[in-house]
Amino acid sequence: MPPVPVQPSADLPAFRAALLDWYDAHRRTLAWRSGPGEAPPDAYRVWLSEVMLQQTTTPHATPYFQTFTARWPTVSDLAAADDGDVMAAWAGLGYYARARNLLACARTVAGEHGGVFPDTEAGLLALPGVGAYTAAAVAAIAFGRAANVVDGNVERVMARLFAVQTAPPAAKPELRRLAGSLVADDRPGDWAQALMDLGATVCRPGRPSCERCPLTSWCAGFRSGEPEHWPLKTKKTERPHRTGTAWVLRDDRGRVALVRRPDRGLLGGMTGLPTSDWTGVAGDPSPPVAAKWRDAGAIEHVFTHFSLTLSVRTATGGGDFLWMELEPALSSLPTVFRKALERAVA
Ligand code: ADE
Repeated sequence: MPPVPVQPSADLPAFRAALLDWYDAHRRTLAWRSGPGEAPPDAYRVWLSEVMLQQTTTPHATPYFQTFTARWPTVSDLAAADDGDVMAAWAGLGYYARARNLLACARTVAGEHGGVFPDTEAGLLALPGVGAYTAAAVAAIAFGRAANVVDGNVERVMARLFAVQTAPPAAKPELRRLAGSLVADDRPGDWAQALMDLGATVCRPGRPSCERCPLTSWCAGFRSGEPEHWPLKTKKTERPHRTGTAWVLRDDRGRVALVRRPDRGLLGGMTGLPTSDWTGVAGDPSPPVAAKWRDAGAIEHVFTHFSLTLSVRTATGGGDFLWMELEPALSSLPTVFRKALERAVA
C-alpha cells in the first residue's frame, strides 16, 4: 500500500506548491485563459467563459467563446446587442434562459457599473443571473480574490483526496468546506483552475490517472488503492418509466422540422423535435401535421427523474416550424432528440 497520506491542511504550503507547479507545467491552453505569468484575463472574458462552461464542455464552448468575443469584444458591446442576435449566436449551447440572463447581466454591468464588473465576490453575486459558482470563479480568476471555486470537478477531487464517506448530494457542504480549507491568497485564479484541470484531465470520473497526479502523497483515495470508489455512489431510486412519440419531419431539401419548447418544464426553452407529451397514455398521439408517417422504431433515454421510451415516426412535408439542416441539428440538439433523429435517419 502507498504511504499513509498526510492531511493536505497539515502540510498546506507543500501541497499547494505541488498542484501549482503541476499547473504551470500541464495547464490546458484555453481560449479564455491568459498565458503563464501574464496578467489575468479581462473579467468579461472570464464571466462569459464560465457561463458557457456551465452549459457545456471546453471543446464545445471554445468556438462560441471566440464568436462572442470577436463580435462583442466588451461587456458594453454585448449589452448593446440585439436580443435576437445574441439568442441566435447562443443556439447550440443549450438553455436560452442562460442567454437571457447573460444579456440581463451585461446590461446591468454596462448601465449601472459603467461597463466595469464589480471586483468582489459579493458585488458579482448581486448581478442578475450570477450564482455562487460564477461569482467565485470571476473573483478568483479575474481579480485574484481568494474565493472558494467549487464545480463538479473540484467536488470529485475533494471526495477522493479526503475519502469523504458521504455520497453526493448530501456531501456537498463538506466538499465545499474541504475545498475552502485549501484556498489561500497566493494565485487564487490559478489554484481554482489547477483543481479544475486536474479533475478534467487526471482525476477523471471513470478511471483516474493517479500515476500522473501530483497529489498522491496526500490522497486518501489513492492510498485505498481504489480511488474510483470516490465520490461514493448515490443509491439509485427507482425511476418511473414514461412513453411518448417524436416526429421527424423533413422537407424536400432534407431539413428537419424543429420547435422551441416552452420555457418552463423539462428542457425548457430548448429547441427540439416536435413530440407528444410524455405521460405515456395509451393510444396514437396526433402528429404535428398530416403526412404519411412511417414508424422508425424507438429510442430509450434516461432523465434524472424518469426513463423514457420515445417512438420515432418520420415523414416528408412542410409547415410552420424552425427548419434546420441535419448536421447542425445532430450536433446541437439535446441528447434525447439527437438519439431520435439518428434513429430516423439511420
Ligand atoms: N470549467 C469551468 N471553468 C473552467 C476554467 N476556467 N478552466 C477549466 N475548466 C473549467
